[in-house]
Amino acid sequence: MPFYLRMGTVPRKRHQVTRSENGELIAEELMGKEGFAAESALIYHLGMPTAIVEAETLLSGDDELVPNTPLLPRHLVTPKLTSQLADGPLRRHLLLGNSDVRLSYAIYQEPTPLYRNAVGDECLFVQSGKGRIETVFGLLEVREKDYVIIPASCTYRIVPDHDRGLELLVIEAHGHIEFPARYLSKRGQLLESAPFSERDLRTPSELCIVEATDVEVLVKTRAALTRYVYAQHPFDVIGWDGCLYPFVFNMEDFEPIVKRFHAPPPVHQTFEGPGFVICSFAPRPFDFDPESVPVPYNHANIDSDEVLFYVDGDFMSRKGSGIEAGSISLHPAGFIHGPQPGSVEAALGKPGTKEWAVMVDTFAPLELGRVASEIEDPNYPWSWSKRHGGTSIEV
Ligand SMILES: [Fe+2]
Repeated sequence: MPFYLRMGTVPRKRHQVTRSENGELIAEELMGKEGFAAESALIYHLGMPTAIVEAETLLSGDDELVPNTPLLPRHLVTPKLTSQLADGPLRRHLLLGNSDVRLSYAIYQEPTPLYRNAVGDECLFVQSGKGRIETVFGLLEVREKDYVIIPASCTYRIVPDHDRGLELLVIEAHGHIEFPARYLSKRGQLLESAPFSERDLRTPSELCIVEATDVEVLVKTRAALTRYVYAQHPFDVIGWDGCLYPFVFNMEDFEPIVKRFHAPPPVHQTFEGPGFVICSFAPRPFDFDPESVPVPYNHANIDSDEVLFYVDGDFMSRKGSGIEAGSISLHPAGFIHGPQPGSVEAALGKPGTKEWAVMVDTFAPLELGRVASEIEDPNYPWSWSKRHGGTSIEV
């Protein structure tokens, strides 16, 4: 996130003596990536951001993963999840993960604890509901189809709307989530050829100035979850500036790229992180040659496991397989996958697709979270085969 922003009150010079209205020194915090060698922000606190008064280790309760054996495509039905099933203080259902990235689903009716992830950036995709994300940088109002990018070490909490709640696909990186380098100029501006621009990004609308004492914050590291109690609230911020902050991009602002014949998923890429990419499938006209095949070909992803989270709309290529809104499919490396039998002919002559989906391709094999087996459709691996009751689309 390279463009410069400033909110609230910051001193004229960096690292300059600054006092509050009652004469107390303001505490400056530098939050920076890659040591001091990449983007950073300077945050100005009324109290000391370092003052912890308690610390204890918590079990996260959600970190069990088992290998995907026998190697099978999987269909996880997130509408079967309930908030009661979730483990751990963050109430996330871990579904899939490897050493690079973890995918969880969260259903919130109540605010989460204050939390920060010291392992890497998080991408929260809003599947349903609305609410707000309160961060040390300020407030983000969120709605359906928002991607919310939270930088590593940014303290935040999620506050769902009282009536509608909030359901999220949570993508946790082991490192930083960035825009694809090919979308950016040498100095970080989104290029004309990118499928979105800076105007599509929403940044914090106002500071969440809170003054309180003895405030609990959960911190995730590679080793464990730690519960700190801070002497003062981390949101005692009067201002900040820099090129590192949380932001929101709504999938409806993604401008799809369409070709005469089928375009592969990289044209839908939106973000990338170490060992994975995130793509957005948005409604678009089908390939426009009269002889083009509108649905994807069968394919073997030699170097990646492919996850699709079906958000909304009509999922033409997997119609008849049980896939519906809220479904997550995993098509792992080593398994050749493709459209549902009959879907090619069914799609011929159709003007376009109304599908909304998030794709996460990982470059290392994904393992399965404990809850995955509880919401898995056992028929899905056989859905391409008539012998096992797989269905074909009527033309
Ligand atoms: Fe695929």
